[in-house]
Amino acid sequence: MKQVCVLGNGQLGRMLRQAGEPLGIAVWPVGLDAEPEAVPFQQSVITAEIERWPETALTRELARHPAFVNRDVFPIIADRLTQKQLFDKLELPTAPWQLLASEAEWPEVFDKLGDLAIVKRRTGGYDGRGQWRLRAGDTAQLPQACYGDCIVEQGINFSGEVSLVGARGHNGETVFYPLTHNLHQDGILRTSVAFTHIHIEQQQQAEQMLSAIMHELGYVGVMAMECFVTPGGLLINELAPRVHNSGHWTQNGASIS
Ligand SMILES: Nc1ncnc2c1ncn2[C@@H]1O[C@H](COP(=O)(O)OP(=O)(O)OP(=O)(O)O)[C@@H](O)[C@H]1O
Ligand SMILES: [Mg+2]
Repeated sequence: MKQVCVLGNGQLGRMLRQAGEPLGIAVWPVGLDAEPEAVPFQQSVITAEIERWPETALTRELARHPAFVNRDVFPIIADRLTQKQLFDKLELPTAPWQLLASEAEWPEVFDKLGDLAIVKRRTGGYDGRGQWRLRAGDTAQLPQACYGDCIVEQGINFSGEVSLVGARGHNGETVFYPLTHNLHQDGILRTSVAFTHIHIEQQQQAEQMLSAIMHELGYVGVMAMECFVTPGGLLINELAPRVHNSGHWTQNGASIS
C-alpha cells in the first residue's frame, strides 16, 4: 500500500486522507509538533498542506528528507516576492508590482501602478490578512514594519476571479480540472462554482500558464493558481503549492477528488 505523510493536520490534510482511501493510498496528516520517531515517514512520500512552517523537531527532520516532494519549491511560493519574480521570469501576466522598500517610494508607486495600490505581506498572509488597499492619501495607515517586508501591486478592476487546480506527475504529464469561478467577500473565499460548459480560450490560457510554472519548478503533485479575469485575458494573482479550497467541489463532483 502506498503511503503519504502530510505535514500539517488541518482540514486539507484530513480531506487528503479521505481522498486517498478509495485509491488505496494511506495518508497520514501529521501535526507540526509530532515526535519525529512517531511518524512513519521512512516508507512514505512526504508532502505538506501548508506552504510555510515553523522550525520544530519534526520539520527540521523533514526539511532534509529526500522523500519530501517539492521541498525546494515551497519557499519560492511562500514568499510573494520570489513568486512574483517567477511570473516575470516566465513572462506570465500578473498584476504589475514591485517590492515596497521604503516610504519614499510612494509617489513613484502611484505613478507606476495607478490610483489603487494593494500592499501584501511577503509571507504569512491568508484570507485577505496581511493586505492593505491604499490610495495616495492613505499611506500613513501602513505599519512601518511593512517596508521591506511587503510587495505592492496594482489594484485590478477585474470582472471575476477563477482558479485552476492541476497536477503534474513525475513523468511531466499534466492534468487539470475545469476552471472554478470564485466569489470572495472581505478577502475570504465564500463560493466556488464550476461550470460544465467551459470557456475554451480561458481554460487553455490557464492550463498553459500553470503548465509553464509546474515545468519550470519541476513540480510533482497538485497545484492551484488563482487568476483575475480582465478584458485582456487572465492575470495570475497567486499560487498555492497544494490542494485548494476552490477544489472542494471535486470531492463529490468529480471521479477523483
Ligand atoms: N491586485 C489586486 N487587485 C484587486 N484585488 C485584489 C488584488 N490582490 C488581491 N485582491 C483581492 O483580495 C483577495 C485575496 O488576495 P490574495 O489571494 O492575494 O490573498 P490571500 O490572503 O493569500 O488569500 P487566500 O485566502 O487565497 O490565501 C483576492 O482574491 C482578490 O479578491
Ligand atoms: Mg488568494
